[in-house]
Amino acid sequence: MPKKTQKSEHDIRVMISQTRLKKRVRELGKEISKKYKGKSLVLVGVLKGCILFMSDLARELDLDVSFDFLRVSSYGEGTVSSGSVRFDFDLTQPIRGKHVLLVEDIIDTGLTAQAVMKQLRAKSPASLRLCALLYKPARAQIKTNVDFLGFTIPNEFVIGYGLDYAGRYRNLPHIGILSGVN
Ligand code: IMP
Ligand code: MG
Repeated sequence: MPKKTQKSEHDIRVMISQTRLKKRVRELGKEISKKYKGKSLVLVGVLKGCILFMSDLARELDLDVSFDFLRVSSYGEGTVSSGSVRFDFDLTQPIRGKHVLLVEDIIDTGLTAQAVMKQLRAKSPASLRLCALLYKPARAQIKTNVDFLGFTIPNEFVIGYGLDYAGRYRNLPHIGILSGVN
């Protein structure tokens, strides 16, 4: 039985512990450093969910790295992606001819990642790959090719380590399952 955690009116259980996250992020860092050895890399994070993952991942990269961020929102409310993605703000630097790695918290339906990859591809980077901490195949509406993946997870609504429910729980150091949502 997973451990219960943090006082809250919601029932939160640990799905991926802080120890497992650290270990996997370190492995991903090694994998990415190997792939881009000798090259400069632009990490493009999708706010706000990416922030904890990206900041930990970046520290594991033995590369010349720069950061940029995008903010997107799905039209509509609730926990289900509506499919149309609005860009709230764009990159601050040109990525033409650069190696770009998109950093996402979670691939759920896959629609956000698809829209963002399309937008980035149109800017003619030298290469474009996708790194996601979590992937929920049960909810996929389209096939997403995740080049660097942390964990494949079951169909549960998860929070923590950057992921939120109604803006809350992003600061949890582990990935938790929020019961009664989804
Ligand atoms: P998409 O359905 O793949 O387009 O994912 C859209 C966004 O929904 C993700 O980037 C997350 O911000 C959010 N999301 C999807 N599943 C979860 C979840 O289990 N917990 C928290 N946020 C989620
Ligand atoms: Mg997100």
